Amino acid sequence: MNVTYDDVCDCAEILHERALAVLVQRLAERPADGGLRWRLAEMLRCTGDLSGALREYRRLAEEGPRREAAGYVAGLLAGDASGAGQYDEAAAPAPFVLLDEALDEAQRSSLWGVVEEQRNAFTSSRVFRYDNAYGVVSADRVSRGLHRGELRGIRDWYTERLGRLIEPCLATLGIAPFVPARWELHLLSYGDGDHFSIHTDTLAREGGTRRAVTAVYYFHRTPRRFTGGDVLLFDTDRRAGQMETRFTRLTPEDNSLLIFPSDCYHQVTPVHGPANLEESRFALVAWMHRG
Ligand SMILES: [Fe+2]
Repeated sequence: MNVTYDDVCDCAEILHERALAVLVQRLAERPADGGLRWRLAEMLRCTGDLSGALREYRRLAEEGPRREAAGYVAGLLAGDASGAGQYDEAAAPAPFVLLDEALDEAQRSSLWGVVEEQRNAFTSSRVFRYDNAYGVVSADRVSRGLHRGELRGIRDWYTERLGRLIEPCLATLGIAPFVPARWELHLLSYGDGDHFSIHTDTLAREGGTRRAVTAVYYFHRTPRRFTGGDVLLFDTDRRAGQMETRFTRLTPEDNSLLIFPSDCYHQVTPVHGPANLEESRFALVAWMHRG
């Protein structure tokens, strides 16, 4: 029997759901158990119930163990990650900002225009393999993308808009302001079965500049006809370049912008849905490069 990447992700999600049910039941029996409440908060964060997780972290920040750490995660989930120094482990939950209604109608229809005009120009996404060659590795990454030339028509206004959206978020992310050395832009379409396994966005071969901030604008037809495509932001020790198995699960809505440091580990869970391009999950990925 062949076990696919989809199978592994599906199994992990079933296990998370079951563990969550057990934790809720045990905490009902021992409501003063701070260790148990911490595990529940972590599990809710992993399953994407961020309002439930926020409720539990706030309670832990008031009366539980690791109050300052709980306060940091609560701040992060409420939109302010600036208290990262208060987290008591090297691998802290990855800071992020998720903005709703990021673009106006004219800007959105401009992006849909690119999808329509360039529909035959999408090419399979590639990754750097362990042997340092750049190529398609379907076990790691499946999506299709438009790149530099095809995005020429949106580049100027989009990066200008992004710059204004990102600037006030840098402090929240714990990143000192900087003037981007350059912007890198890719428009990705995730259709049925597409995914991106765990990775960081930092690249060794970036000729003098490096990716510092990742900003992903999500758009899709509504109501969405696909499932999956969640973003898992893993708890990362950014100094050591290592990650934990804990993560924050985000389900980005249409017209939202997710911003996070490029050196934090993340993953896109498999998408399930129609095969046609228009019903895909689109992600306009931009990287701010530091000089
Ligand atoms: Fe990425």
